[in-house]
Amino acid sequence: MATRGGVTAGRPYELVVFGASGFTGHFVAEEVARVAAGAELRGSLRWAVAGRSRDKLQGVLDRAAERLGKPELKSEVGIILCDVSDPSSLADMAKQAAVVLNCVGPYRFFGEPVVKACVENGTSCVDISGEPQFLEGMYLKYNDKAAEKGVYVVGSSGFDSIPADMGVLYTRDNLKGTLTAVESFLTVKSGPEGYSIHDGTWKSAIHGLADQGNLRTLRKQIGHKPLPIIGAKLKRRGLVFYSQEFKEYSIPFMGSDVSVVKRTQRYLHTDLKETPVQYAAYATVGGIASVIKLMFAGLLFFLLVKFSFGRNLLTKYPELFSGGHFTKKGPTQKQIDGSSFTMTFFGEGYCEGQDPQQGKPNVKICTQVKGPDAGYVATAVAMVQAGVALLKDASSLPKQGGVYTPGAAFSKTKLIDRLNKHGIEFSVISKSEA
Ligand SMILES: NC(=O)c1ccc[n+]([C@@H]2O[C@H](COP(=O)([O-])OP(=O)(O)OC[C@H]3O[C@@H](n4cnc5c(N)ncnc54)[C@H](OP(=O)(O)O)[C@@H]3O)[C@@H](O)[C@H]2O)c1
Repeated sequence: MATRGGVTAGRPYELVVFGASGFTGHFVAEEVARVAAGAELRGSLRWAVAGRSRDKLQGVLDRAAERLGKPELKSEVGIILCDVSDPSSLADMAKQAAVVLNCVGPYRFFGEPVVKACVENGTSCVDISGEPQFLEGMYLKYNDKAAEKGVYVVGSSGFDSIPADMGVLYTRDNLKGTLTAVESFLTVKSGPEGYSIHDGTWKSAIHGLADQGNLRTLRKQIGHKPLPIIGAKLKRRGLVFYSQEFKEYSIPFMGSDVSVVKRTQRYLHTDLKETPVQYAAYATVGGIASVIKLMFAGLLFFLLVKFSFGRNLLTKYPELFSGGHFTKKGPTQKQIDGSSFTMTFFGEGYCEGQDPQQGKPNVKICTQVKGPDAGYVATAVAMVQAGVALLKDASSLPKQGGVYTPGAAFSKTKLIDRLNKHGIEFSVISKSEA
């Protein structure tokens, strides 16, 4: 197995999970163990966990061994010691791997040295960042170098934003005609035990939001022209609206999905001459009481995030300021087991043979991406399958290496089939004449 660059064939490990001791890293390591034992890779995947504490890493393997009933994991999986603050340790890790799955975040603080080490050492890497500033900053700084080295740096490969990005492509591929616009609605369900998100993600959100100004500057530096609008212009919904489709109030989705899908569409339009799809992302939030609670918490968050003392307060007391949605402990296993997500895509476009620049859209499609717990289970599945696609679908990756979104890197690979086989299911709900 080798990535498209071909230079990594003789390395000790195909996959290395960096940050395996983190809350999310545990799930990623366990998912790699599951996939390594599955039909496609059985017995052939050489992999390791990496991080700064041997004891913690051994603990990750012990836990995975017990949960999966595979005692051999304790001794067969490699352990690499490495710290973000020590570039030579990162280079050593990168030299031993074909693909690094990087779970060390917030990425704005810890991500760049890993990308740098990977690119310099001819190693592809995948992250689960939901931080547009990091993702786009890496594109600006490392895209050319990654192309030169023939490596693939694929960001946002967790729940942010594989379901959205690949979901838009799936919707496009299943419409007979030209898809020109898509709206997605995310619905998250939790079981009787409720749900909470680990504060690793909370910290990433605090610092991401605090730094919106720099994101605008960065985008100016990148200097992309706006994408052309093909077909009827997608109307934006309000800040809060009642969705007739779901009979619930909905709000714009605040995560990185829109920026990631836009970057994918830009790549597909610019490099592959495909029709760009307009996209908007929403999340259902329930009844009016949930809307009021959310708006109150949102306002407080936006206010506090602007000041350093506010950011300190938010970081120190995630539970208090998020109404219990984010905690330092993260969700319990029962909460994770009871949680699931559905992302529904409403697409419209123009039937085959009709010029999408003329008249109104005349075909519609509804598709869905469904999966288990979004934060950790689906994130781990998505990240690991992105890594497997880099290894196994190398001939279907873009010709040149570079810094890519998942949709740009994997639009021609079997990633969607792979996700379908591992519990993130893509399906067509309906298709009709508009
Ligand atoms: N895309 C998605 O949908 C999604 C879902 C979940 C999480 N995430 C993102 O994933 C990231 C991690 O979240 P989390 O909740 O798992 O956080 P976490 O539990 O705090 O894990 C952080 C990891 O980074 C490691 N680390 C910190 N500093 C390091 C250093 N200097 N050198 C080496 N390793 C270092 C930690 O190692 P130690 O154990 O040694 O401290 C730990 O393994 C966040 O950015 C979060 O936003 C994304």
